[in-house]
Amino acid sequence: MAICDDIKEVLVSEEELAKICKDLGKRISKDYEGKNLLLVSVLKGAVVFMSDLLKEITCDCKIDFMAVSSYSGTKTTGVVKFKKDLDVNPDGHDILIVEDILDSGITLSYLKKVLMDRNANSLKICTLLDKPANRKADIKADYYGRVIPDHFVVGYGLDYDEKYRNLPYVGILSPKVYEEN
Ligand code: IMP
Ligand code: MG
Repeated sequence: MAICDDIKEVLVSEEELAKICKDLGKRISKDYEGKNLLLVSVLKGAVVFMSDLLKEITCDCKIDFMAVSSYSGTKTTGVVKFKKDLDVNPDGHDILIVEDILDSGITLSYLKKVLMDRNANSLKICTLLDKPANRKADIKADYYGRVIPDHFVVGYGLDYDEKYRNLPYVGILSPKVYEEN
């Protein structure tokens, strides 16, 4: 069985994802011209978005990765586990956190708190998807691609138990997949 058979509906198509990256890349390039941009991607969900967005950015920038996890299956545990820190010293950089999805906001408010203590010039958030229905932390994205309704989505980097990251679009996962488990 192909993994696309588990998708109930395509929510953000490949064409729309390409346009989102182009538009965000243009805005970010303009806003960070002459600054010391450091894109910080959150592993692993944001890697596909990060690599497409990166190609649309025309000003000087560096990239780095952090890894945290707070999910178990389709539910957030509410506890963020820190798994990998930055390699680049963020001192003096304008950090832009690149995230796949802003859901409860617990992960991003934790990362913001961690990075705020590192002497960066500025700290902003760019998320591909914003799912405001479950927001628990008081946090907003400075840049976002699409606001989505309250569904569990996969593809374009986003996973369910490490599967479906390789789908080229963002789709709603059929509830039968996680209800069976
Ligand atoms: P938050 O801490 O609840 O905002 O969750 C953020 C992280 O949970 C995201 O970076 C994703 O890795 C994961 N996540 C939240 N919603 C979804 C979803 O619908 N599909 C896949 N992963 C999700
Ligand atoms: Mg993530």
